[in-house]
Amino acid sequence: MQTPSLNLNRQEFGNSKNKDRVLSLTEAHDLLDAWIQNDRLKVHMKQVGHLMKEYALQEGLSSLDAHKWHLAGLLHDADWDQWPEQHCQKIIEELEARAIDPEIIRAIACHGPRYFGVEPRTQMDKMLYAFDELSGLVHAYSLMRPEGYAGMEVKGVKKRLKDKTFAAQVSREDIEDAVQRAELTVEDLIAFVVAKQGFAELT
Ligand SMILES: [Fe+2]
Ligand SMILES: [Fe+2]
Repeated sequence: MQTPSLNLNRQEFGNSKNKDRVLSLTEAHDLLDAWIQNDRLKVHMKQVGHLMKEYALQEGLSSLDAHKWHLAGLLHDADWDQWPEQHCQKIIEELEARAIDPEIIRAIACHGPRYFGVEPRTQMDKMLYAFDELSGLVHAYSLMRPEGYAGMEVKGVKKRLKDKTFAAQVSREDIEDAVQRAELTVEDLIAFVVAKQGFAELT
């Protein structure tokens, strides 16, 4: 979710002295509970967080790094419910005040480059951007299927992606841009989301 949007007007976030400083999962969920009333938004954040964690683990990253990826996904839209016109400045300032690892903060800052004016650099940055919109589209598709995620196929998702009237708020332009930046195929990205997202509520 990025509109209304704010150009953040900076490229650096957090402080390198805070490397590896993280919130616990409980602290992150407490923050979500305090800031967000919209349950659908919470589901979205948990889904993106889950995808991020699973992708980091698949890439062979350490459990600390996978936790950082998880937090970036879990918190990326934390300010959307109460302060949409300050999205994502508010959560960035909160995490900077809490002296959290700058990589997490920067990944959040660049989950919509054409809105926030921050360029994704790291793989974590790029994957958060790549999962964000696609996750929403796949979730919308699961809700219209009697079987939910079970038996969902990549080609079914691709069809929904082509049909611009389906989940019309999902930016196809951003998905295409994100896939290119992450040097992935859209098929591989969809396959990963389909395989993992149905289990997001379990973690
Ligand atoms: Fe957003
Ligand atoms: Fe999002």
